[in-house]
Amino acid sequence: MFTPVKIGVLTGGGDCPGLNAVIRAVARRSWSHGHEVIGVREGWRGMIDQTFQPLGRAEISGILPRGGTIVGTTRTNPYKVDGGVDAVQAAFQHIDALVAIGGEDTLGVAARLYRELQLPVVGVPKTIDNDLSGTDYTFGFDTAVHICTEAIDRLHTTAESHNRVMVVEVMGRHAGWIAVMSGIAGGADVILIPERPVDIGEVCSEIQRRHARGKLFSIVVVSEGCELPGAEDKGEVDQFGHKLLAKRGVGEALGEEIERITGFETRVTVLGHTQRGGSPTPRDRVLATRFGLKAADLVEEGAFGQMAALRGDDVIAVSLQEATAELKTVPDEWYEVGRAFFG
Ligand code: F6P
Repeated sequence: MFTPVKIGVLTGGGDCPGLNAVIRAVARRSWSHGHEVIGVREGWRGMIDQTFQPLGRAEISGILPRGGTIVGTTRTNPYKVDGGVDAVQAAFQHIDALVAIGGEDTLGVAARLYRELQLPVVGVPKTIDNDLSGTDYTFGFDTAVHICTEAIDRLHTTAESHNRVMVVEVMGRHAGWIAVMSGIAGGADVILIPERPVDIGEVCSEIQRRHARGKLFSIVVVSEGCELPGAEDKGEVDQFGHKLLAKRGVGEALGEEIERITGFETRVTVLGHTQRGGSPTPRDRVLATRFGLKAADLVEEGAFGQMAALRGDDVIAVSLQEATAELKTVPDEWYEVGRAFFG
């Protein structure tokens, strides 16, 4: 006999263009299965506090192109909150299944809740950083790369007019995907990523080499997670143990060093949260939509502990455990594509 169920949807971690497209797809497909969908407010915090919001036709209407998340998000980790895990378990009295949309941290919690307590959770991978293993791409990444590439294009013309070095700091604490992709797309002269130690001498030689052949401006793209003496983090970590960045980011420190060593006038642009805000690209809307449909189907099949993922052109299911086991960092082959155009 068919039993309708109530499905909760939460978004956790940093927001990301395409979250609303997933929520819409989960809702539309789940309704077609005859189920009810409710929003869990602000990530795992909403499960702990049991704060829910209705997600009916009116709430879902018009959200496909909208940035951010209509159910809110936080970086709350129930494993770091007193009684947090028990509270999450208790919240399942109100829902029969949960779709958790998040990155490594949010989905790491989902994987653990499934593994240790067999809670009925499925995952959808999101992050502008594209650093989740188990899926070829996450939605939000294409939008971030698009924004960074446009910024690099704009910085090119002003760099050239003033004979300046432009340092562009982009997001990516542990993986340099945004820097590499936008650097390749924008024709950066140097790209620096957290996977490789920064050699300031080498950076300056590349810029000097350009100048020697008559190119009097340069674009340097740097991931925020690169380490350089002079850059300072806030000395604090979030509930998932990540350093809070950007008291004085690596871009500023790098710009100063380049100017000091080369004598070339240098300016720094930190793209920051512009990379995460606003409307998703068509590609991200489509990927987010496909992930949302898959997640709703996984719930329907009772395939808990699984995550929607992209392999080639196919959306498949992978285990949450496998998908959150390690970060997907930039391999050498990708870095070498950008490097072919340095200097
Ligand atoms: O995880 C996504 C991300 O945008 C990272 O690229 C970045 O380091 C971090 O979030 C910034 O976090 P917050 O919005 O909390 O400052």
